[in-house]
Amino acid sequence: MRMRRLKWAEDYLKTSPSRMMEPEKVKGRWKRKLKTDGALHVEIGAGKGSYSHDMARMNPEDGFIAIEKNESAAGMISKKYDESPLPNLKMIYGDATDLRNWFQNREADIIHLNFSDPWPKRRNAKRRLSSPAFLDQYRDILSEEGEIWMKTDNSSLFEYSILQMLQAGFELIDFSVDYRRDEHPEDAITEYERKFMEAGNPIYRSVWKKGRRKND
Ligand SMILES: C[S@@+](CC[C@H](N)C(=O)[O-])C[C@H]1O[C@@H](n2cnc3c(N)ncnc32)[C@H](O)[C@@H]1O
Repeated sequence: MRMRRLKWAEDYLKTSPSRMMEPEKVKGRWKRKLKTDGALHVEIGAGKGSYSHDMARMNPEDGFIAIEKNESAAGMISKKYDESPLPNLKMIYGDATDLRNWFQNREADIIHLNFSDPWPKRRNAKRRLSSPAFLDQYRDILSEEGEIWMKTDNSSLFEYSILQMLQAGFELIDFSVDYRRDEHPEDAITEYERKFMEAGNPIYRSVWKKGRRKND
């Protein structure tokens, strides 16, 4: 689903208080910036940003960073966060191929991948947020007890991601092929998730622990 271009987003993002203009300058200091001693959550591909906003409100002791590379979506996120600011929430407008520039090794505690673009054609596999190069970055920036939480409606992406995570040495600690069959009030519903739930589609979810790589 391609997002309509929002002309105001470019200018809005230049001065938005919730946007971190130079995230590389906060590298290693995110928890201080977000005034938190709790877990640091990083959502990659945040869309319109409601998931991190809801989670930051529900977990005021934790810090949240929403990353989004699409200008119009990033504009919507920052507007939402500016209109209803939370001290433990910021956004980064940028491509998550640069995570090591923004986060120190072992700085993040939970990475959220919510309804990532499936990129079904094999030639685009490198763009999938669960492809090996992304998983390598996640492993570097995640703390020793760090986790990846993944949700999708796409069974092919789910299967692909499970294989990639296992090959990258992550340990599967939770798994469902119909996650919203049960109530999960502790986990916010994303914009995409709500649409799929309304259409009656099952939500696939897996949770991964960093674990040790075979040669660690
Ligand atoms: C299908 S949407 C899902 C949005 C939201 N997570 C949800 O569940 O409603 C995927 C989003 O990920 C963003 N995205 C994809 N690859 C990205 C990357 N490498 N860095 C940052 N954002 C990315 C896209 O721009 C898009 O907004």
